[in-house]
Order: sequence, then C-alpha cells, then structure tokens
Amino acid sequence: MPIPFLSLLLFPFFLSLSSAEISSLVGINYGQLGNNLPSPSHSVNLIKSLNAQIVKIYDANPQILNALKNTDLRVSVMVPNELIINISSNQNLADQWVRTNILPFYPQIKIRYLLVGNEIISSTANQTWFSLVPAMRRIKHSLKTYGIHKVKVGTSSAMDVLQSSFPPSNGTFREDIADRVMRPMLQFLNRTKSFYFLDVYPYFPWSSDSVNIKLDYALFESKNITYSDPVSGLVYTNLFDQMVDSVIFAMKRLGFPDIRVFIAETGWPNGGDYDQIGANIHNAAVYNRNIVKRMTSKPPVGTPARPGRVLPTIIFSLYNENEKGGSGTERHFGLLYPSGKAVYEMDLSGSTAETKFKPLPEAETNEPYKGRIWCVVGKGVNMSEVVGALSYACSQGNKTCEPIRKGGPCYEPDSLKTHASFAFSSYWAQFRKIGGTCYFNGLATQTIKDPSYGKCKFPSVTLQG
Ligand SMILES: *[C@@H]1O[C@H](CO)[C@@H](O)[C@H](O)[C@H]1NC(C)=O
Ligand SMILES: *[C@@H]1O[C@H](CO)[C@@H](O)[C@H](O)[C@H]1NC(C)=O
Ligand SMILES: *[C@@H]1O[C@H](CO)[C@@H](O)[C@H](O)[C@H]1NC(C)=O
Ligand SMILES: *[C@@H]1O[C@H](CO)[C@@H](O)[C@H](O)[C@H]1NC(C)=O
Ligand SMILES: *[C@@H]1O[C@H](CO)[C@@H](O)[C@H](O)[C@H]1NC(C)=O
Ligand SMILES: *[C@@H]1O[C@H](CO)[C@@H](O)[C@H](O)[C@H]1NC(C)=O
Ligand SMILES: *[C@@H]1O[C@H](CO)[C@@H](O)[C@H](O)[C@H]1NC(C)=O
Repeated sequence: MPIPFLSLLLFPFFLSLSSAEISSLVGINYGQLGNNLPSPSHSVNLIKSLNAQIVKIYDANPQILNALKNTDLRVSVMVPNELIINISSNQNLADQWVRTNILPFYPQIKIRYLLVGNEIISSTANQTWFSLVPAMRRIKHSLKTYGIHKVKVGTSSAMDVLQSSFPPSNGTFREDIADRVMRPMLQFLNRTKSFYFLDVYPYFPWSSDSVNIKLDYALFESKNITYSDPVSGLVYTNLFDQMVDSVIFAMKRLGFPDIRVFIAETGWPNGGDYDQIGANIHNAAVYNRNIVKRMTSKPPVGTPARPGRVLPTIIFSLYNENEKGGSGTERHFGLLYPSGKAVYEMDLSGSTAETKFKPLPEAETNEPYKGRIWCVVGKGVNMSEVVGALSYACSQGNKTCEPIRKGGPCYEPDSLKTHASFAFSSYWAQFRKIGGTCYFNGLATQTIKDPSYGKCKFPSVTLQG
C-alpha cells in the first residue's frame, strides 16, 4: 500500500524537479600559483561571497580542506601529476593516498570529484599517459574499499586532445591517444558513471583567428551569427557550444555517446600582454557573466548536441596568479585580485541581474595593438638569473647580440640590464612569428616605450592586421 502511494506522490515531484528546478552547478577553480594570495580561510570566505557551489583545487591541500569544513560547497580535489605513475602500479599507494587525503575530511566535506592529474595528455608523451587510466582505476578501487561512493573519479583534459574539432560533428581524438588512452578512459567513465572533465577556452581559438571568428560569437553576445554544421545539421550560436560538442562527437565516434560532460575550467583573461588581443576586464566580465547566466538557467540549456542537459561548470579562476608561466593572459584569469578585491563584480549563482552590476570599463584591446612592441627585463627580477637568460637569447637566431658586443652601438653603457633587454628584444623580434615568447621564465616583459638610445636601435615587434 505505501509504495504506490509514495511513488504517486514522488513521481510528479521528480518530474518537476528535473524539468524546471534543476540547473547546472557553477563553481570556481581555486588555483594557488601566486606568492601573494590570501590564506585558505580568507579565500573560502571570498568563494562563498561569490556564491560558488563548487570549488576545485589542484591538490588536496589539508589547510584548504580544513577551511572548507562547515561549508556547503561541493569540492573537487586532485591527485598531483607526479604521483600518477607510481599509483598506477601500486594499490597500496592508491589506498594510502585516499586514506591520507580524503578520509580525514570525508564526509564532513562534500568531496564529490577527484581528478587524477591535470591536463596530462596535453603535455609531451611520456609514461604518465599510459599510467593515467590504471591510476584512475586504482583510486576508484581505494574509494570503494573505504566505502566512499559519492566521489566521481576523472581527469581533466584540454581541447588539444582532439585532432579535429571542426565542424563539431568531425570531432576526433588524436590518433596517438585514441586507442591507448581515450578508449580505456571512456570505458572507465562509462562504467563508473563519471564525467568527462573538459577545459574549454573560446578565448584561445578566437584570439588566434579574430578576423574570421567574431568576438561576439566567442562572448555569447551574438544575436545574429549562427553556424550550421553541414553534417549534423545542428545550429550553433556561440563558440563554446561548438567546442564542447566537438568533444561529444569525438566520444561518440569511439562508441561512447552518453558520457556526461563537466566543464572543469572555462574563463576569459582580464588582462595580458600588448601582443594579445581581447584580454580585458570588459570581455572577461561579459564572458563569465554570460556563461553563468546560461548554466544557471532553468530548465538547463545544454548544447545543440545535447539540448536541455545540465553542464556543471567551474570558472577559472578565483585569483590572478602571478607565478603562472607563459604569456600574460595566463596570469590574468582571476575574478579577484590577490588583495581579494573584485576585478569586476560576479555572482556565480546567476541571480544578480546584469543591470545591478556597475558599468564595465570600455574594452580597449579588441583590435591588435598597432604600434611597435619591445621585450625588456622586467621590474624587480633576480639579476643573477638574467645572466643565463641573456646568454640563452644570444645563442639563438642570427646576429642576435652583435650590437651589444664590445665596439657595437649598444655596448655602452655596459650594463647587464640594458644588454639583456637588447638581447630579449632582438630574440623576440626574430622568433615571435614562429612561437617565441617574451617571457624568459618571468624575467622579461613587453613594453611599448622604445628603449633605443643614440645609435643603439632595439629590434621590435609589429603585429599585422
Ligand atoms: C615513485 O617510486 C619510485 C620507486 O619506488 C621512487 O623512487 C619515486 O620517488 C616515486 N615517485 C614519487 C613522485 O613519489
Ligand atoms: C610527464 O608528463 C607529466 C604531465 O603529463 C609531467 O607532469 C611529468 O613531469 C612528465 N614526466 C617526464 C619524466 O617528463
Ligand atoms: C575532419 O577531420 C579530419 C581529421 O580527423 C580532417 O582531415 C578533415 O579535414 C576534417 N574535415 C573538415 C571538413 O574539416
Ligand atoms: C549582426 O548584427 C551586427 C550588429 O547589429 C551587425 O554589425 C552585423 O553586420 C550583423 N551580422 C550579420 C551576419 O547579419
Ligand atoms: C555506457 O555505455 C552504454 C553502451 O554504449 C550506454 O548504453 C550507457 O548509456 C553508457 N553509460 C554512460 C553513463 O555513459
Ligand atoms: C637569484 O638567483 C640565484 C640563481 O638562481 C639564486 O641563487 C639566488 O638565491 C636568487 N636570489 C634571490 C634574492 O632570490
Ligand atoms: C637566420 O638566417 C638564415 C639564413 O639567412 C635563415 O634561414 C633563418 O631563418 C634565420 N633565422 C632566424 C631566426 O631568423
């Protein structure tokens, strides 16, 4: 008797839950690659004030996990890349990792996702690739041993796992990983009902082809641009959906049409170098607010390949992180400055109307910079490290350092800083078009102020277009 009664009562309730009440969870990536970031407990308060529902960390830092006690946040932790090979071949090590890093906090803390490594298959091939899925299996097994069933195990990957992503229906995993890594991984994700954790940044394809891809299409702002996939017939209104669906089609091609996707990272840089376009506060706020609006809409929007499906999404990132390598944008994905001050207002619950936010600054870098750019020694860097960078730069290219040799026009004043700045500019001017960067391990920075003097002319970079 009670059973039909209950199911009668519950069934319509669940129906309405799934169609109208459910939306995708939205969270924040809490990266810690900065030497000036607030404490874990202060950070957790900031995360709460952003109304995040999930927080993802890149390790299992016990101070952060302690700070997350007594919060309602769902948590994603990570097995560091370095441990994957050993864990893959040793169940005791997997058990030990879970015992040390998860058990003390579970179930008080809502640990729900456990990623084994970060973008492993984006770096150069090594043994770690082939240890990845075995390590995921061992970690899952350990969780089961300890009676932990609510934690989904996965790994994050970037778009470069695909060899083809256009049109979306042509999405295909790279040949070097399709059979040896992706197929067993998808089998694992399917068997354990886990997610495919994907890092998706429309910023990068847009910024490398901003002539053909419209900015509005990348920012979810376009009202009239659509792209119809000629094979699937699906109609796209933004670049994000195209990218996500290309991965969905790649999974389908390997025989896994149903694995849920989880957006482990997405975002837009609020700043960058002079040679990077579209990285500004205006665009970052527009992108992140639009994606939050989309993900929190009820019922869920999904993507053209999976309309109406939830797509949990974790924005990258909480802070601008000053110790991240690479070009300037890498250090400018934060919703917050390291001081804790907002770069722009955000409400990850999606319940603040756009009109309630203060006006945004104009987007000033949406076109390529038109003047000349030089690459010089950054402020306050360690000058003993500059020595090595100088000799590296001089060893590359053609006559890179001729003018700073004794008797050359740039020899005087004989200062390490001036010589290194010349070498950096000279190196960058020759190598930028083939991917060389003005970075030198953080020792170099771009400038639009010509460092030339007298007869000493510094080589410069000019962007085309
Ligand atoms: C992996 O195991 C080897 C052999 O026991 C050990 O030498 C190495 O330090 C371990 N690596 C890590 C990152 O723990
Ligand atoms: C192998 O790749 C992983 C990431 O994919 C990286 O963390 C690790 O340092 C690499 N190991 C070697 C020996 O190159
Ligand atoms: C589809 O992908 C393949 C590689 O997987 C590529 O060679 C081909 O050019 C792509 N098709 C289109 C129309 O881009
Ligand atoms: C879309 O609208 C924008 C702004 O109204 C306009 O500049 C653009 O030409 C339109 N594009 C197309 C493809 O209709
Ligand atoms: C796993 O694969 C089977 C066969 O393709 C499919 O029926 C099922 O829906 C899949 N489950 C998940 C969670 O992807
Ligand atoms: C500067 O770099 C050198 C060489 O790497 C290192 O030995 C030294 O400790 C550094 N100095 C400071 C102040 O960080
Ligand atoms: C150096 O000069 C050679 C011969 O002129 C040329 O092929 C090469 O591309 C140059 N290298 C760079 C970095 O410009």
